[in-house]
Amino acid sequence: MAAWQHAARRQSMDLFEHQARDLFAAHDVPVLAGITANTAEQARSAAEQLTGKVVIKAQVKTGGRGKAGGVKLAEDPSDAHEKAKSVLGMDIRGHRVRDVLVTEACDVVEEYYFSFLLDRANRTFLALASAEGGVDIEQLAAERPESLARVPVDRHVGVDAAKARKIVEAAKFPAEIAESAADVVVQLWEVFIAADATLVEVNPLVRNQRNRIIALDGKVTLDENAAFRQPAHAELVDKEAEDPLEAKAKAKDLNYVKLDGQVGIIGNGAGLVMSTLDVVAYAGEAHQGVKPANFLDIGGGASAEVMAAGLDVILGDPDVKSVFVNVFGGITACDAVANGIVQALEILGDEATKPLVVRLDGNNVEEGRRILAEANHPVVTMVDTMDGAADKAAELAAGA
Ligand SMILES: Nc1ncnc2c1ncn2[C@@H]1O[C@H](COP(=O)(O)OP(=O)(O)OP(=O)(O)O)[C@@H](O)[C@H]1O
Ligand SMILES: [Mg+2]
Repeated sequence: MAAWQHAARRQSMDLFEHQARDLFAAHDVPVLAGITANTAEQARSAAEQLTGKVVIKAQVKTGGRGKAGGVKLAEDPSDAHEKAKSVLGMDIRGHRVRDVLVTEACDVVEEYYFSFLLDRANRTFLALASAEGGVDIEQLAAERPESLARVPVDRHVGVDAAKARKIVEAAKFPAEIAESAADVVVQLWEVFIAADATLVEVNPLVRNQRNRIIALDGKVTLDENAAFRQPAHAELVDKEAEDPLEAKAKAKDLNYVKLDGQVGIIGNGAGLVMSTLDVVAYAGEAHQGVKPANFLDIGGGASAEVMAAGLDVILGDPDVKSVFVNVFGGITACDAVANGIVQALEILGDEATKPLVVRLDGNNVEEGRRILAEANHPVVTMVDTMDGAADKAAELAAGA
């Protein structure tokens, strides 16, 4: 995966099915009663509360749970205990099952597919719907595209009852449930907008024996660019799955991304950091193929504290063999950055053991270089050019 793809991936957050279900319920999308459990014993008491048959569903952020054996029908509470025991701890495509959702079993008559998504290629929102649901939607789109309706949605017009009816018609949902399906479509649009989602998918949306429409499975992706106006999103983060260094960086408001190489990278400004990644990857080819280990953007104002916090995060990564600090002095001039580095190294003390290659340029560069030269810290090597510094950092990482 390229660096920018990592960055883009971090701009969104997938929810667990049970979180999507709660979000649906808050917007009056019909869902089944359900209780999450992380032990077999809890699953048993959930089944007692729900009464009747229940379905035990693995909570993992990946598709194909059913096929992997992560969705199981249970006849009664003791069966729920048994089934939960087999599903908890399961590995589904690299995701370990820590929780199950225990839901009522539903008398499904028909399954449909429905989603709202951000269609980046066409710069619009899109409703995708099909009367043939419960199946792998990519497969359906590839094999029988005519059965999948694609209806563009204008963000500013939105989805009212009339638009929802058009979508349901295009998808050829059966006439007897068209109206109630359209109501659900309007509610799902509300979820999509209210949560700043880039995807709201219901697969399957089902009809039961009393012709009720129910969202049986939900997948929601939130747009993290909207986090500033969505304080509730923070509650939905899966803290256990988070990389501890990423969590540490986030707590300090630093933009940090873990990669799989050996050279740690700190820079100021996204553009400079991205090009530093490329330069290091290129330089690494001449040094046993070393690559960037991570990158951290300390932003415009690189104070000593921010530099120390950044170095602390980068040096905490055991894969890091050398660090390349690439700063272009602008609003914060090079002398301030140099002082920041010197003070950061003081703050870190004995923890600063890995070689640091520093390249400073821009505003007040002479003074910045003088400060670093005078400090003469044993781990610091100054190199004046970006290419030269990248080469030095790669060489040091390869030699370590
Ligand atoms: N509560 C329920 N009652 C009855 N049948 C259910 C229930 N939950 C799921 N099912 C059945 O199991 C199938 C798979 O369930 P679900 O869509 O939740 O998982 P999945 O599709 O395997 O997971 P994913 O969508 O992550 O790939 C559904 O299509 C439905 O037929
Ligand atoms: Mg599904």
